[in-house]
Amino acid sequence: MLVLEKNAMTEEIELLVHKYGKLRSSLLPILQDIQRKHNSIPDFAQQEVARLLDIHPVEVFSVISFYSFLNTEPKGKNIVRLCQTITCDMAGKTGVAKALERELGIKFGETTKDNKFTLEYVNCLGMCDQGPALLVNERVYPKVTPERAVQIIGEVK
Ligand code: FES
Repeated sequence: MLVLEKNAMTEEIELLVHKYGKLRSSLLPILQDIQRKHNSIPDFAQQEVARLLDIHPVEVFSVISFYSFLNTEPKGKNIVRLCQTITCDMAGKTGVAKALERELGIKFGETTKDNKFTLEYVNCLGMCDQGPALLVNERVYPKVTPERAVQIIGEVK
């Protein structure tokens, strides 16, 4: 069974390499396609991408680590990202973080059991004058209070 799954993944990546070409610049679009289909880029896929593009697996992993929209573990349907940079921190980030953890019953870096929400910290969202800033999926929320954070989660649920 595992062998079959691995073969399917290899075939899929071979098709992507055929589609985008065996160039270094193909790495990101290939990873994005894998992410879209599987909601993550598992270890085996990373190794196969490296092998088929003839690059080092560390290079693949460093690209995945650099882009917050790529990940090695499946994430929740909704990604809740709270800015942890200094201005938002001083504007009350900690209170918002605690409210989010309490409301969702998880810590930052975790996903709810029903796979609905993942909580993450991010660096500056470019809303420093309106912190604390929260990004839920594609939407940015400025000046978020702990109460507003709970309300936002309720709206997304
Ligand atoms: Fe939080 Fe810039 S410091 S948005």
